[in-house]
Amino acid sequence: MRIVVLCGGESSERDVSLASGGSVARALLELGHEVLPVDPAAAEPLRAGPLRPGDTVEVAAVGKEPPSPSDRPLLRRRMHAALTGGPVLELLRGAGLVFVALHGGWGEDGTVQDLLRKADVRFTGANGAACAAAWHKGRAQAVLGAAGVPVAERVLWRPGSGEVPRDVHRLLAAGPVVTKPVADGSSVSVQRVDTPEQLALTASEGTELLVEPFLPGREFAVAVVGDRALPVVEIELTTPLFDYTAKYQPGAVTEVCPARIPRELAEHLRHLALRAHETLGFAGDAYSRTDFRCDAAGRPMCLEVNACPGLTATSLLPLAAAGAGWTYPELIRRIVDMAMR
Ligand code: DAL
Ligand code: MG
Repeated sequence: MRIVVLCGGESSERDVSLASGGSVARALLELGHEVLPVDPAAAEPLRAGPLRPGDTVEVAAVGKEPPSPSDRPLLRRRMHAALTGGPVLELLRGAGLVFVALHGGWGEDGTVQDLLRKADVRFTGANGAACAAAWHKGRAQAVLGAAGVPVAERVLWRPGSGEVPRDVHRLLAAGPVVTKPVADGSSVSVQRVDTPEQLALTASEGTELLVEPFLPGREFAVAVVGDRALPVVEIELTTPLFDYTAKYQPGAVTEVCPARIPRELAEHLRHLALRAHETLGFAGDAYSRTDFRCDAAGRPMCLEVNACPGLTATSLLPLAAAGAGWTYPELIRRIVDMAMR
């Protein structure tokens, strides 16, 4: 089958997506497909041309820093044009399947998925509504909390829109907090804040932030593929936060799967991840990864659900798949099969 791999895109995770796309393309070739990598935000989205079984694929390395936000308007214009008409859209329509290897922004907030649906193109992973439900961390946590998935207390704050909310000061008076853009990925701009002075620095950024207590305990991730929760991954941190550098610098953290935790805790985390997956509308043919941290009492709290989790060689979903006994191409085969059902 001819499969288009959509990767790159306009978001702060463009580099990560190019690396995911390369790994996915390589696996699809191994599975015997004809593969067409397409970066819809590139000036020449089709430059790579089709790859056939036996061809080699260069997999991009993830940069040390996310790309600059000032490039985004141009990348978005190109991407919208490519996905709504012209030769790229024709190509997507002519393919048997589009593999969405985009992360963040339009690739993960449902925009691309809705455009593909409107164009009557078959694609992998979650639908637009589930992506949108997961992408805004504040709204997603409210929904998850109501469904019985434990989430930390949180305050939404748009710096520059008047005084710092009293609830932010209240959280900070109780201990360190974490501030993060309410809608972004790969821990771009996530910060730990210990003092009001540090908060003042965060405040100059102007993006809507989610402020929540810093959770001091262990960090876990649970992937769900279809309706199956995979073995728990533990991220053994050597830094206070699992930030962008720690995520993509080889060797910066140790990730262990299956996590060395009591069976009851592993089952509990898998149950919560499945519940989060279902609550946000990830149908039986989608996949997701839910991240957790334990609070001071050791209770797991859900941090977020990722609709388009990373698929680079060192990403957590492939590691969880290996824990379940699946090779990387086997994971990709399952994602393709779910989309073709
Ligand atoms: N946002 C990155 C790609 C992840 O969740 O793996
Ligand atoms: Mg994320």
